[in-house]
Amino acid sequence: MDKIAKVTTQEGGFKIDYLTYKNVCKMNNTNTLVASDVIKEVDVMPILGTDYIELYVSNAKQAAYFYKTAMGFQSLAYAGLETGQRDWESYVVVQDKIRLVLTSPLRSGTDIGRHIDQHGDGVKVTALWVEDARKAYESAMARGAQSFMSPVVEEDQFGHVVRAGIHTYGEVVHIFVERKNYKGSFLPGYQSWKPYYEAEGVGLKYVDHMVGNVGLGRMNHWVKFYEEVMGFKQILSFDDKDISTEYTALMSKVMSNGNGRIKFPINEPAPSIKKSQVDEYLEFYEGEGVQHIAVATDDIIKTVTELRERGIEFWIFLLPIMIHFSIV
Ligand SMILES: [Fe+2]
Repeated sequence: MDKIAKVTTQEGGFKIDYLTYKNVCKMNNTNTLVASDVIKEVDVMPILGTDYIELYVSNAKQAAYFYKTAMGFQSLAYAGLETGQRDWESYVVVQDKIRLVLTSPLRSGTDIGRHIDQHGDGVKVTALWVEDARKAYESAMARGAQSFMSPVVEEDQFGHVVRAGIHTYGEVVHIFVERKNYKGSFLPGYQSWKPYYEAEGVGLKYVDHMVGNVGLGRMNHWVKFYEEVMGFKQILSFDDKDISTEYTALMSKVMSNGNGRIKFPINEPAPSIKKSQVDEYLEFYEGEGVQHIAVATDDIIKTVTELRERGIEFWIFLLPIMIHFSIV
């Protein structure tokens, strides 16, 4: 047997290494394997998409108004005093497949308040939509993840949801969300939020990628985490020659899950004449965290024009293979 086995698919075939071949055959108790076996073997962490992104913010209601009025999101759900929460409130807004949860503390001395005091407004949770949250959690834990939240079943009259979470860089966590048995607007514990005022959408469709800024020398640590714990693959790499100006530089590796729906670039600072923008982030955010969330649109000119009309300011820069429009 050659060290590399070729598996034929309808698209023409691809190669896998001998060890994978042996392992999959052993698992299936056969001497042959088909393409679907290999896909199962490679994607140890099947993820259906981004479920929601939760930001801890100092004023959730005002933030929700901003995301609705300026960014074209619609109201979806609410939790707070009226739903029995005494310590925090969350407003959930949605645009196509993007769900943002905007959470603020209702009293002093909460961890949410401490997070805001240290970091300012920022991303706390990237929730990943999975078929089986317990399995995703247990499989990540078996490969070395650090637990944030053991699996919990939450339910109301619309069904039940299973959630479990693990830590990633900084204070950011990934929460696995299994919602196949749930028909409510967002999650159990939230009520539908249907105010009189709604803004028109601007064509934002889904989360394209979410970038993490990590400390000097830490990029490869987190690349390894996404490879080993989450089963991601590195799909792109930029060094300081690719992403730099005369004054600021960074290095970045882009990690993607098996079906490509989740992409997490990881940045670390690189030396330059002035401080790297990643260093600047780490200093002012006071730690590692999410640098930006990129969202997709089918018509970027139309979306950007509409956002500018609503008061969003832009700076535009060119990378060799893509155009980024960033909101300042
Ligand atoms: Fe980006």
